[in-house]
Amino acid sequence: MFVDTHSHIYSEEFSSDRNEVIANALRSGVNKIILPNIDSSSIKPLLDLASSRPTLFIPLIGLHPTSIKEDFRKELEIMEYWFNKRKFAGIGEIGIDLYWDKTFINEQIEAFRIQIGWAKKAGIPIVIHVRESFPEVLEVIRQEKEESLQGVFHSFTGNVEQAAEVIDLGFKIGVGGIVTFKNSGLDEVVKKISLKHIVIETDAPWLAPVPYRGKRNETAYISFVADKIASLHGISLEEVGKITTQNAKQLFGF
Ligand code: NI
Repeated sequence: MFVDTHSHIYSEEFSSDRNEVIANALRSGVNKIILPNIDSSSIKPLLDLASSRPTLFIPLIGLHPTSIKEDFRKELEIMEYWFNKRKFAGIGEIGIDLYWDKTFINEQIEAFRIQIGWAKKAGIPIVIHVRESFPEVLEVIRQEKEESLQGVFHSFTGNVEQAAEVIDLGFKIGVGGIVTFKNSGLDEVVKKISLKHIVIETDAPWLAPVPYRGKRNETAYISFVADKIASLHGISLEEVGKITTQNAKQLFGF
């Protein structure tokens, strides 16, 4: 019924109860979980988890912008090795993050471009991390855009105009726990976005929706995100599940 299009449940935060977290996800109606990579240290746990249940998990490969430092070329080489070695449903998560650190902005942009190139080569989508960097990300996408390039603006927090720009580029809008936060303003934005452009996600272990805000997030909580979207659009939970699942299927090709 639901696809969690962005979950890091391979991470250490779940080392003591990962099986329970997976059981909870299945019980809450999730039948696909997309696993975006972070950097070279997360590849092994990610692929181990993905191969433990190949029908449930969909692995992605990519270097996260907050992991881009002086050694980013070496990190990219490792990503490229895996990209050539096995099949991935997408490149992610990649992008630009100017919230934590602006030191490596040029390196972030360069790595973003290189990885977009891989996605274009393989004909697979990109999962984009944007934090205080919407204009910068948009500029890169506009320059790199070709017909085949698709993707999702993961954990979208922009305004209505920015959502329209994302949709214009043919990209999807990733909606997660923030839509349930009081005063986030995202609810008013999501209300105005047609469901055909939306995919849902948790970003577990981060950004848990209300009523778990501030706690560790897990994939099962996707139902609170879907429920919020259902009430914003005045439709049923089932309908939200159906449409967002179709969108995710079309994007990631499963
Ligand atoms: Ni993430």
